[in-house]
Amino acid sequence: MAKLIGGVGTSHVPSIGAAIDHNKTQEPYWKPLFEGVEPFRKWAAEVRPDVVIVVYNDHASRFGLDLTPTFAIGAGAVFNPHDEGYGPRPVPPCNGDPDFAWHLVESLVLNDEFDVTTVNEMTVDHGLTVPLSLAFGQPEHWPCRVIPLCVNVIQYPQPTASRCYKLGQAIRRAIDSYPADIKVAIFGTGGMSHQLQGERAGLINSPYDNKWLDEIVSSPEQLAQTSHLELLTEAGSEGLEVIMWMIMRGALAKEVRQVHRFYHVPASNTAYGLLVLEDAAPIQAGQNPAGGAEVQR
Ligand code: DHB
Ligand code: FE
Repeated sequence: MAKLIGGVGTSHVPSIGAAIDHNKTQEPYWKPLFEGVEPFRKWAAEVRPDVVIVVYNDHASRFGLDLTPTFAIGAGAVFNPHDEGYGPRPVPPCNGDPDFAWHLVESLVLNDEFDVTTVNEMTVDHGLTVPLSLAFGQPEHWPCRVIPLCVNVIQYPQPTASRCYKLGQAIRRAIDSYPADIKVAIFGTGGMSHQLQGERAGLINSPYDNKWLDEIVSSPEQLAQTSHLELLTEAGSEGLEVIMWMIMRGALAKEVRQVHRFYHVPASNTAYGLLVLEDAAPIQAGQNPAGGAEVQR
């Protein structure tokens, strides 16, 4: 049976990708950030997921105002990096996992009434590729298959944090019911506080980010009640991206073990946050710890 081996929250700041691509990670500006990311890389090399579900948002690259799915799952065989204006990033294409992606879609739509959009052809932007670079560096091929889960955090009305948390719980049920023996990780990307435009451009709110990092570990159900207004006010207009971390957190058990936490300011105009989490008591594949029909988490 498929097994969820962990969840990661990470910002996906594009300049981090550029620093990797242009070999700047050891420069004084970037060194502290990449040092703080190193334990994540070690963890990823140790647990070696077969598939990573990357929850990210598209930044008007593949999607735009002409087509704005709220939740979209990439079910194609390959996803190439999008050209965001400077040519596509020099990263490998992502190999998808169509069988598993279709299982996720079926389970979400038929068992959990999450009517997600299925996308068979899509390119992926920095929202997805930067977290892969942070996890795996610069390999010739990504060491895992990738299922993109694209969330609309850009165009009103965005889904609520609570809806995202519930989607994560439904994704966990889908993972737990997939018969193939694969190790799955889920990344929630975006955030932390940042605003790229308007009068408050450059906003970084470290106390709020750290409160979020505390509470997503210890009290995710309360955190899922956070309103968009609070996020926009405290974390900035683009800080709303952090609701995607709730999908990752919803997929994990209620009690988690914090493998690694790191926070760094600044990464461009942005706060960088990282959390690596595992279920506190790993569930054996195919077993239901609650013993009932519903897994308690
Ligand atoms: C920037 C863009 C992003 O999508 C993000 O999540 C953080 C920062 C930027 O352009 O600096
Ligand atoms: Fe972003």
